[in-house]
Parts: sequence; C-alpha cells; structure tokens
Amino acid sequence: MVKATILGAAGGIGQPLSLLLRLNKKIDELSLYDIVNTVGVAADLSHIPTHQVIKGYAPKDKNDSKTIKVALKDSDIVIIPAGIPRKPGMTRDDLFKINAGIVKNLVHQAGLSCPDAFICVISNPVNSTVPIAVEELKRLGVYNPRKMFGITTLDNLRLEEFLSSALAGKVPASDLYGDAIAIGGHSGDSIVPLINGWGKNFGSKEEEYTKLVKRVQFGGDEVVKAKDGKGSATLSMATAAYRFVNNLLDAITAADGSTVKEVAFVKIDELKTKKVPLFISKHTQYFSLPIVIGKDGIELVEFPEYLSEPEVLMTKHAVEKVKLDVIKGFNFVHGSK
Ligand code: NAI
Repeated sequence: MVKATILGAAGGIGQPLSLLLRLNKKIDELSLYDIVNTVGVAADLSHIPTHQVIKGYAPKDKNDSKTIKVALKDSDIVIIPAGIPRKPGMTRDDLFKINAGIVKNLVHQAGLSCPDAFICVISNPVNSTVPIAVEELKRLGVYNPRKMFGITTLDNLRLEEFLSSALAGKVPASDLYGDAIAIGGHSGDSIVPLINGWGKNFGSKEEEYTKLVKRVQFGGDEVVKAKDGKGSATLSMATAAYRFVNNLLDAITAADGSTVKEVAFVKIDELKTKKVPLFISKHTQYFSLPIVIGKDGIELVEFPEYLSEPEVLMTKHAVEKVKLDVIKGFNFVHGSK
C-alpha cells in the first residue's frame, strides 16, 4: 500500500500533478492538502475510475493543525508544491520570505505525522527550501538524508527539449533523457546543463551553445513572461515532478530490489558518493547530481563521467551560488550567527 500526499494540491502545479498521480497504478491512496479548494479538486478527480482512495483536506481555519495531520498520516511520499510562484521581474530568491515559512511549517507537520516518508520539495527557491526542510526534520530528530529530494527535474526536461531543438531535431528529445542532464542548483546560473558528447555538434558555433545554456538556466523566465503576471511554469513542472515521483515509486515498490537513476538536489555530505570532486564536496553540502534510488531511498550520489572545460567552470560558479543559498536556508531555521 502506497500513500502519496501533495501539500499545495489545489495550485497551478498541484492540480495537474494530482491528476497525473490519480492515474498512477502504484499509488493506493492519494491525499490532497491545500489551504483552499482541495475538497473540490479531490471530488472532481474522484470521478476518474481507478483503484485509488482519494481524499481532499483543507484546514477549517488558521488555527486548525489537526486536518493536515490527518492528511499526512502514514504517507510514504510527501510532495510539496505549496507557496507563491514568481511574477515578472521576480527571481526565485524573491519568493524566499514567504515560501521559507510555508515549507518549514509543512515539513514540520510531515516530520510529526509521517517521519519515515520520502519528501520531495518543489517550492522555490529550492536551493534554500531543501536546507530548511532538512534542518526542520533534524530539529525533530527524524531526518533521513536518503529520503530528502529537491525537485530539479524541470531543468532536465528543458535541457532535453532545448538541446533537441538546438540540434535541429536530429536527435529526438526522448533520446536525450538521462544522457544530457542538468546539475548544480535550481536558479539561474546555478543550473549547469551538461550536454555530454553532443558538444561536438555545435562545432565552432559557440554562440549557439551559449544560447542553449542560457535558455536552460533562464527557461523559467520565458514562462513567467509569457504568463504575464499569472504565475510560473505549472504544466511542465507537474510533468517533471510526475516523472521524478513515478521513478521514485518504481524504486520503492520494486519487488526484485532493482534501482532507478534520477537527478535531484540532495545533501551530498551525508550520502554515499562516487567520484564527486573536491571542488564540489569541499565547498557545499548540497548539490543537484545524479542519484541511484533503491527501496530505502538514495543509495549513491554519482558524479557524471564527462564534463567539458566550460561545464567545469559553470559547476564551480554554481558551487559558490548554492553555498550562499544553503546558508540562507540554514539561518532561516537556526537564526543567523
Ligand atoms: P500556485 O500559487 O498556483 O499554487 C500554490 C498553492 O500552494 C496554492 O494553491 C496555495 O493555496 C497553496 N498554499 C499556500 N500556502 C500553503 C500552506 N501553508 N499549506 C498548503 N498549501 C498552501 O503556485 P504554483 O505555480 O503551483 O507554484 C508553487 C511553487 O512551486 C512555487 O514556489 C514555485 O516557485 C515553485 N516552482 C518550482 C519549480 C521547480 O522546478 N522546483 C518550477 C515551477 C514552480
């Protein structure tokens, strides 16, 4: 029996993600929590015939902390897209003031009600909200580094799609899944797109390559601008989160103990790592990197086999950026020293 809970389920990401998860056969109970509209979203989705139990929860008032406890009880996976999205001109960091408190409170509740659950943090700024989630669970004494993920999958989706277009469609985006990956952090130039062997296709067209890198790093801005004040990426993000959660489900329900490869923003210093260079591990505790997930969570953090010279430089720059964002998240929970 697998129970998955979405916190922020009635939002722009939450609703399509709830729909996708409603159709997933590996989930037996889908629990939807938001401060507004969740009961309606759950009622709507409940008319789709599946084997799942689905329930929607919303607090009765500001002081109601019981409802979220019921929503989270016995969850195996908790997915958090709660918070406010970006408006034009805002960076992910501008969201910090509001989303930091929301994530801290929600993770606190998860730590109390389902301390063993896998936690997937979508709410931005991920570089800071994941450290907040980690520190909050540590305070409660229930933190497990193998079960905490910052969801950076959308950077990977964008890289696959944009690289395929940059290669004039000669390589379908689906062939780039797992081959071209984005590492680093999840904001602007802390995102490092790795194009593996595909660099040779750009030849001397350095401009094309630079354009691709910038497009992956700032792809979110394209959507924020196009939506003109009505939010940020929601449908592509729900697809990205679904790909991640579906892979996680494969790993934790595998009867034969098989593992799954993914990429996520994780706390590398508390996990088993392979070939992670010192220029990363010496300077930052967190980074988005390829991971191997098994039944009990992350088994290994692996560094990619090949990085070009510009990719190494971008990674070094990302380390510096992520380091500062992590400190910001840490200080939010513990107070600055
Ligand atoms: P939205 O505003 O459409 O939805 C957010 C939902 O969270 C709303 O329904 C709201 O009622 C709910 N919420 C707020 N406070 C809550 C609380 N205390 N408890 C439960 N629910 C609460 O925003 P959207 O577009 O769905 O984005 C959500 C978050 O995801 C934002 O922080 C956004 O920046 C982030 N995001 C992350 C991406 C990533 O790659 N990790 C990509 C795109 C967005």
